[in-house]
Amino acid sequence: MSSLFGDDLLGRPEIELPAGAHHVPNWLSYEQQRWIVERFREWGRGPVPPRSASIRGHPMSVKTVCLGWHWRPYQYSRDAVDVNGNRVLDFPEWMVRLGRKALADATGEAEASQEYTPDTALVNYYDEAARMGMHQDKDEASDAPVVSLSIGDTCRFRFGNTTTRNKPYQDLELRSGDLFVFGGPSRLAYHGVTGVIPGSAPEECGLSHGRINITMRVTGLSG
Ligand code: SIN
Ligand code: MN
Repeated sequence: MSSLFGDDLLGRPEIELPAGAHHVPNWLSYEQQRWIVERFREWGRGPVPPRSASIRGHPMSVKTVCLGWHWRPYQYSRDAVDVNGNRVLDFPEWMVRLGRKALADATGEAEASQEYTPDTALVNYYDEAARMGMHQDKDEASDAPVVSLSIGDTCRFRFGNTTTRNKPYQDLELRSGDLFVFGGPSRLAYHGVTGVIPGSAPEECGLSHGRINITMRVTGLSG
């Protein structure tokens, strides 16, 4: 039961993030979260199944399904050449609109956000043991912001600096419904997921196990 004054309604400590990085807790309603979880289940049924990409021979612990462009370490292609060769699903129009609204709400820059046109989304599923090492999102040819949405279990998210994967960094929780945006001077900041808190997903989000994270990006590619 979500009580009247459940944790999700209490304020969370505000964390000082570097310029260009924004955290908006509880941005998606539960209804929106459940609707996206349904879409997530559809995406998983094909044309390209979720897979663990390998980085230097080591499979990642998250499973990824892509929209618009298929990501594999260090490059994008339309076809999932390292999975089954099929072309990935188109980037949905509703997600472009959602990305614009997310950016506007996170940055307060309503007009500039209308220009934001993400063309790929990496949709990652974390089981309770999954994590993601510190890395930069730098396979895109554009410096447009990354918009991240989280649904399901809470994760411990580490957001750092643009020069090293080490300190200074900030540790914060990304909970179900949270929005995180990094652009401008933080676009190439190192970041990662140090762990997922099993069983922390609110019942109302529609995902009973694990965590979904969607990152929308502008590839800067054409074709
Ligand atoms: C990512 O860095 O691409 C994913 C971050 C997250 O899962 O919150
Ligand atoms: Mn990333």
